[in-house]
Amino acid sequence: MTPMRKLVNVGDMSRKWWDDLYARCRDIIARPEVYANSCSGKILASMFYEPSTRTNFSFQAAAQRLGAGVFGFSDPVGTSASKGETLADTIRMTAAYSSAIVIRSPQEGSATAAALYSEVPIINAGDGGHSHPTQTLTDLTTIAEKRGEIGNIRIGLCGDLKHGRTVHSLVEAMEMFPNISFYLISPPELRLPDYVSARMKKQQQDFVISESLVDCIPELDVLYMTRIQRERFKDAGEYRRLKDVYILTAKMLKSAGSDMLIMHPLPRYGEIATDVDTDPRAAYFEQARYGMLIRMALLLDFMHLPRRMPPVPESDPDVLPGECTNPACITRSDAYLPKIRSRSGLDRCGYCDKKVTEMLL
Ligand code: NCD
Repeated sequence: MTPMRKLVNVGDMSRKWWDDLYARCRDIIARPEVYANSCSGKILASMFYEPSTRTNFSFQAAAQRLGAGVFGFSDPVGTSASKGETLADTIRMTAAYSSAIVIRSPQEGSATAAALYSEVPIINAGDGGHSHPTQTLTDLTTIAEKRGEIGNIRIGLCGDLKHGRTVHSLVEAMEMFPNISFYLISPPELRLPDYVSARMKKQQQDFVISESLVDCIPELDVLYMTRIQRERFKDAGEYRRLKDVYILTAKMLKSAGSDMLIMHPLPRYGEIATDVDTDPRAAYFEQARYGMLIRMALLLDFMHLPRRMPPVPESDPDVLPGECTNPACITRSDAYLPKIRSRSGLDRCGYCDKKVTEMLL
């Protein structure tokens, strides 16, 4: 089996790959000293075009704990992107200087695009409202460590399911595990995007849709809260109307199971009251720590791969004609990108998964 060379979407992962990664993570937790110099001489490039605390810091800490160096930016203002350089050129150069690249961008599909031009592994640290596969690694590690297994759970996803990229990736990753039931808790305006819910139906994932957090709490093994994503709303009035729709308080937890896990990718913005923090079921700060540990396992794998330039990307003639009109899609600014297939279907953009036909209307 050829080793996996990129993590841009959850579809890059397999169950076997996850099991191996998690086993390595557990060994890192048990014997950190063994790994202290395991990536010495390697360099991580960290490209953050969008704000981040945990993801950026945890990748940097992970690289340094393995003995690797790090360079990069957390604000693109100081780079040639501000002079109008294309993503492809920036990636070619960054790859020449590094052993692996972590990229976060507000543009959906940017990591998919970057992987077409990089001779070193590309890791998606969040592409707009689309996906966030390394947060999913963090979430899976937390569930596995705290519950002993990932399968056989009832998980409530609550908040902004429309724009929350961590939710989109987590839902898809759960396909790898048996007997998962979802409670999708959101106002109607913030339900999952169509490409995620269509896939859930196709894969026959078990789910119920609800607007009531209080009603769902007693049913859950895991409650995954999310922030209402202000920066992704087109209408500021709609954001203001919805921003406080769910606030989890200590009082509400009285009806929850005694070992229900409370998770959140963080940052929170009021949706978990601070009186929840001391509840033994609150796992969100530990979750952030697991993020660093599983990212160590990921970097250890990726930074030792030999350099290999991907084949020159060509447009797929079977992909529907028509431009992607999703304003957040990377193809809008980087028009040279080839048309590629979406795993979600030929009528969808291969970068952001939005329906091309729908968007042309
Ligand atoms: C999330 C993100 O950036 O998508 N945070 C994270 O990476 N830990 C969640 C969010 O911003 O709400």
